[in-house]
Amino acid sequence: MDESKTRVVIALDTEDLTEAKRVIGFTQDQVGTYKVGSILFTRFGPDAVRMVKDAGREVLLDLKFHDIPNTVKGAVKAACGWGVGMLTVHASGGGPMMTAALEGAEEGSAASGGPRPKVIGVTVLTSIAREDALDRVLELADDAVQAGIDGIVCSPREVKHVKQATEGRLLAVVPGVRLPEQQQHDQARVGTPGQAARDGADYIVVGRSVFGAEDPQAALSRIFEEVSHA
Ligand code: C5P
Repeated sequence: MDESKTRVVIALDTEDLTEAKRVIGFTQDQVGTYKVGSILFTRFGPDAVRMVKDAGREVLLDLKFHDIPNTVKGAVKAACGWGVGMLTVHASGGGPMMTAALEGAEEGSAASGGPRPKVIGVTVLTSIAREDALDRVLELADDAVQAGIDGIVCSPREVKHVKQATEGRLLAVVPGVRLPEQQQHDQARVGTPGQAARDGADYIVVGRSVFGAEDPQAALSRIFEEVSHA
């Protein structure tokens, strides 16, 4: 297992469980956490989470909850029953919503007897190109600190500033990661794995930079190499 300070999370954005299992199969020696997002979860529900847990790996449940506080609290509580290690809510849902998510995580994990999942607030989606992205990310990061949640999602371009502004109080989960020669697809605010790691990312999330590559294994090795030399 990789011991770098920055952990690599693989996004299981596949349309079937067999393909997701294949991805876990060729990456699990190096990867400790897999991201189950809305594509896999909407098709397979908790089975998608179970598949990762059965492989002995952690789950980042990326359903980006965004609703009134009571509803988000209930959804987070439900997710605790599946033993996810981290989950996402939209930071723009507001401080009371993020605090409610944390309460849901506390109550849900107490009920299931497992550890409390980390609650991570999504700031400005990495696919959005807006000039004031950094200001807005920092505003939302401040809200996340006030609400007491564990971390945020931001792009490689903001991670250094978030770490500085919040004095390292938030975990930084960073998607929008591409090797220098790779295409951006629908992502707008991208950076390389090495840059994100040097700037303090605790986790980088990689999807198409691995699966979209001609040689996924080689792409993953290069990502690990960049991260470990950061
Ligand atoms: O394929 P790619 O590496 O662009 O995948 C990035 C993953 O991170 C996707 O699963 C996407 O849903 C997720 N994500 C993101 N931007 C955010 C939060 C999550 O790209 N702000």
